[in-house]
Amino acid sequence: MALVFVTRRIPEVGIKMLEEAGHEVDVSSKDGVLTPDELKGALQQKPYEALVSLLTDTIDEGVLVCCPSLKICANYAVGFNNINLEATKSANIQVTNTPDVLTDTVAEFAVASVLALAKRIPEADKFTKALKYEGWAPELLLGSDLKGKTLGILGCGRIGVGVAERLAKGFGMKVAYYDIQRSEYLETSVGAVYYDTAEAVLEIADVVSLHVPLLDSTRHLINADRLKKMKKGALLVNTSRGPVIDEQALFEALRSGVIGGAALDVFENEPAIVTGLEKLDNVILTPHIASATHETRNKMSEMVANNVLVCLRGEIPPNLVK
Ligand code: DGY
Repeated sequence: MALVFVTRRIPEVGIKMLEEAGHEVDVSSKDGVLTPDELKGALQQKPYEALVSLLTDTIDEGVLVCCPSLKICANYAVGFNNINLEATKSANIQVTNTPDVLTDTVAEFAVASVLALAKRIPEADKFTKALKYEGWAPELLLGSDLKGKTLGILGCGRIGVGVAERLAKGFGMKVAYYDIQRSEYLETSVGAVYYDTAEAVLEIADVVSLHVPLLDSTRHLINADRLKKMKKGALLVNTSRGPVIDEQALFEALRSGVIGGAALDVFENEPAIVTGLEKLDNVILTPHIASATHETRNKMSEMVANNVLVCLRGEIPPNLVK
């Protein structure tokens, strides 16, 4: 039997798996993100061997020293930029994430964001609910077509590929992409064209969707200079990590018409949002819910539990982050 601490309630299925295997699971009772001090305090209560963390928990050396018995930090997310991997490595703690299970869900959400922006659905909804609709008009709330337009994908991992395939095969978009590695698969499956800089993609794309992980090299990948390189009416979608965009620069670009619109599911300083973004009509804001479906959140819970169970058996967990 081992002790497991979960920093916030997650779908029950994973908790049951851990308990049925005989482990004692403590789930934080706070309905919110633990502050660093609360997290440290909680980890000092018992000799936990496994920690289930969320992307909202910063796991650094200061946290890890509070719990020397820890063997694994199983992150309930595919992204793991909240974990200091040098600190976990020197404390000999395994780190796992939840890849694959959320790929289709996030790709669907990114496509939904593209459609909502291009067809101005949230604006139209707001307009109609405000009882402003006075009858059909030829130029009311004109949007854009996607067919034949160019989709720019920055970051061609599993999710980037999923978005490109859906928009190319389902909506007839052409695909241009940039990544540090070429995707032969995407070039073959939808005839995607590789460009060796982000700028080159930004210059030709009508719609840009971001799918890079947050690294030092991708922080502010979209900044004022690169926004100026985009087409005037271009649409930008971010379902990756907020700091990939310089949010203040994006706000200025949207306000002054440098680009056409943006759909943001993630923010630079979550949960804060740059002041004024919420007032712009050409912006769709959602609260980091791209992977939030019943199916996927349950699968993430199972995956986290499985990683913990395998580690506690003394084996290498399947989703080890290296
Ligand atoms: C992830 O898994 O990294 C997602 O951002 C969670 O929604």
